[in-house]
Amino acid sequence: MNIRKKHAFRFRQHIVKLITMKAAGVPAQHRLVLLEERTDMPEEDPRIIELRSMREKARQGGGADRIAKQHAKNKLTARERVDLLLDPGTFQETEPFVTMRDDETNPSEKTLGDGVVTGYGLVNGQRVYVYAQDFTVQGGALGEMQSHKICRVMDLAVQSGAPIIGMIDSGGARIQEGVLSLGGYAEIFKRNSLYSGIVPQISLILGPCAGGAAYSPALTDMIIMVEKQSYMFLTGPEVIKSVTGEVVDFESLGGAQTHHCISGLATLTADSEKNALALTRRVLSYLPANNVENPPAISCDDDPNRMDEELNHLVPVDPYLPYSMHEAIQHVVDAGSFLELQAGFARNAIVGLARMGGMSVGIVSQEPSVMAGSIDLDAADKITRFVRFCDSFNIPLVTFVDSPGFLPGVDQEHRGIIRHGAKVLYAYSEASVPKISIVTRKAYGGAYVVMSSKYLGTDINFAWPSAEIAVMGPEGAANILYRKQIDAAADPAAERTRLTEEYRQKFLNPYAAASKGYVDDVIEPRETRARVIAALLALRDKSVTALARKHGNMPV
Ligand code: HXC
Repeated sequence: MNIRKKHAFRFRQHIVKLITMKAAGVPAQHRLVLLEERTDMPEEDPRIIELRSMREKARQGGGADRIAKQHAKNKLTARERVDLLLDPGTFQETEPFVTMRDDETNPSEKTLGDGVVTGYGLVNGQRVYVYAQDFTVQGGALGEMQSHKICRVMDLAVQSGAPIIGMIDSGGARIQEGVLSLGGYAEIFKRNSLYSGIVPQISLILGPCAGGAAYSPALTDMIIMVEKQSYMFLTGPEVIKSVTGEVVDFESLGGAQTHHCISGLATLTADSEKNALALTRRVLSYLPANNVENPPAISCDDDPNRMDEELNHLVPVDPYLPYSMHEAIQHVVDAGSFLELQAGFARNAIVGLARMGGMSVGIVSQEPSVMAGSIDLDAADKITRFVRFCDSFNIPLVTFVDSPGFLPGVDQEHRGIIRHGAKVLYAYSEASVPKISIVTRKAYGGAYVVMSSKYLGTDINFAWPSAEIAVMGPEGAANILYRKQIDAAADPAAERTRLTEEYRQKFLNPYAAASKGYVDDVIEPRETRARVIAALLALRDKSVTALARKHGNMPV
């Protein structure tokens, strides 16, 4: 008998013995002893031992000391991150034995895996492809082979129609690889761009993300940052000081709060890595795997026909008093399902994912309690990007409207409010997903038109009785329409007030628009949830054939 057959024979004998013991009622702990005492088992094949040892070496990344350093900074290793993100036991690694190229450009130490863990697994039972840069290997810096590994999972993700999640913790381009690392980034940026709108791409920034490296996350659909741990910038504090003389630290230059509230780059932030990973799982639960699938629908405990009496009392009778649109949204969507995105940026606009009757929806709105809900440059950008994201991934849009219009001002005009406002028009016109709008109060002029109005292609348009759909507000309108009459009056102020009120009565209601078919129905606020869910169901199989073109030329 050759050695392999001999081992196989002994192994079978051992298993038979275990089965016999079980059948004879021998308790499990005694059978376990037998397992541990497998003295008759053969010596392990040295090739298997070598594989195990190489696997272990790959698992060690930059070594125990650097792992300890990473933990001392309260940071997880790349593998720990992957394990926390994915459903337990589902991670399958790809290319763990890749090392950097063997030539004179790379005199430094080679590490199995080349500073990135790549592979695939499941999140909430759905397939995803992942990569996690390993800071313990040359600070997670990206070289040629690391780039090849990342590009490979990106390609596989697109070919099999599954989201890509990138976990970034990196000093940027690997300096000693020179142009090879720059080319490596270019390969990733190209894929980020060409795969945009095909599969969802999410970037988690879990440490540094410096230099041009920051462009990859910026090309993805969402960026999630960790407070006081992650930072992104093109040029760091040192360079800035030498060029402009400004003194700034990492956190205020490119930390999570800076990008969440000022630049608008960070879609979401979390107070710890674990929470950032949990947030990513939550985001994925709203999204389809790719652009030809529909988002997953879940069973819903919240009654789709729930009438919400509080909504009938939400909008103050006094048109100058604010109210919270966040509150309106919370009352309308499935309980607890609203996940606001970019909440700290352009707070006069609201965007986020939610569920209605278990179906994923994208919510867009103004917040009338911030800048009266006017649309400025940043709000226009925020709305545009979110509308395009939802349209890419077949997520219906539900738009609540309360805006007096675009923010007036020389600064806004000079910085291009026309160009930015045009983006909103473009995005809503182009979006072919089911679109439903609800005018809750003001929908004046440009704001009426851009915010999902009927003739931009919105499918179902509702208005609350408090809606004011008009070309402009009453004061401005009275001054233009009745200027001569006001000037000629004995008491111009009283005449202005009278005419303003007359205009309000005549135009500032939903019925003028409804009488011309611009509004499908005027509804009680409490009915909103039921009416929107019914509309979503009615529009579920909506299909629009786009005219053939290479691509449009959206104003940017
Ligand atoms: C090679 C690098 C590296 C890099 C860090 N390391 N950055 N190796 N290329 N870009 C190595 C360090 O030598 C060190 O190796 C290990 O990573 C950890 O780095 P530390 O400095 O000890 O860590 P820390 O103090 O936490 O500081 C992290 C850091 C800093 C802020 C990221 O390392 C740093 O400033 N790195 C350079 C950042 C940078 O300028 N990158 C290039 C950007 S330009 P050992 O062996 O000691 O563990 C760019 C162009 C891309 O990216 C263009 C694409 C279009």
